[in-house]
Amino acid sequence: MSHELIRAEALRVALPDTTRKRPFRRAPLISILHGVDFHIRAGEAVGIVGESGSGKTTLGRALLRLLEPTGGRVLFEGQDITHANEAALRPLRARMTMIFQNPLSALNPRRTIAASVAAPLVARGEAGNVRQKVLRALDRSGLPARFAGRYPHQLSGGQRQRVGIARAIVTEPAFILADEIVSGLDVSTQAQILDLLRELRRDMGLALAFITHDLSVVRVLCERVVVMHQGRIVEEGPCADLFATPRAAYTRRLLAAIPLPELDEGWLDAEAEDAAEQG
Ligand SMILES: Nc1ncnc2c1ncn2[C@@H]1O[C@H](COP(=O)(O)OP(=O)(O)O)[C@@H](O)[C@H]1O
Ligand SMILES: [Mg+2]
Repeated sequence: MSHELIRAEALRVALPDTTRKRPFRRAPLISILHGVDFHIRAGEAVGIVGESGSGKTTLGRALLRLLEPTGGRVLFEGQDITHANEAALRPLRARMTMIFQNPLSALNPRRTIAASVAAPLVARGEAGNVRQKVLRALDRSGLPARFAGRYPHQLSGGQRQRVGIARAIVTEPAFILADEIVSGLDVSTQAQILDLLRELRRDMGLALAFITHDLSVVRVLCERVVVMHQGRIVEEGPCADLFATPRAAYTRRLLAAIPLPELDEGWLDAEAEDAAEQG
């Protein structure tokens, strides 16, 4: 079995409450993750699912140490990075990267595609082979070299998401966090992006944490899934088991949102149980 890449133990996150209309000078903290255990192995694809507001993005940001946990630990290849400073994290930033939900807001409108994809290399002070690495990342992401000189507004939604992917792979990471990356796309573009991720995962040996509120997407991409609800993991397991015999009532409700052709008998039983529960 492959080695463990990232581990979170009893992870807690509290953030200053930005939802207050008139924040105090020091906004009170609100607790968002209440002790989450998570791990992912090299090359593994894990789905992180749950409704909006369940804490998926916060978990992802804590795993990448884009925010600092208030409790518990985060380990990257055994190294405790829970409170590591930016200098200590810098070498890891190339090894664990992220693809965002909305590529247009993640891409600088005044930067060419090549400049955006090169940014992570430039940030690391890489001088040699930048152009070659950028073109290779674009090619791997299914974008011809002629896109290098274009600007984000000249691209379709699917092409922009490919740029986001190219930027995430340009440093040859071991782990990519993909946060709702197909949510805004039409169904056929979604399928193409998922195919691309599957291919990259296989070719690059990537580990993938795939955040989504849509369980049907997880099924085509991931072998394992964790279900989040209100800042906690309420259920986890191999996709096949969890889809066939969900244990948590919350998971059954999530599965109930999947269109009928996706269903199997286990799901139908769960729905009947749920209906019985609700009277
Ligand atoms: N800076 C913040 N201030 C206040 N509440 C926040 C902040 N960031 C996230 N939240 C809240 O934390 C919860 C989890 O958010 P998030 O991790 O974005 O969930 P998800 O990605 O599953 O939709 C939500 O209720 C959200 O409103
Ligand atoms: Mg989110």
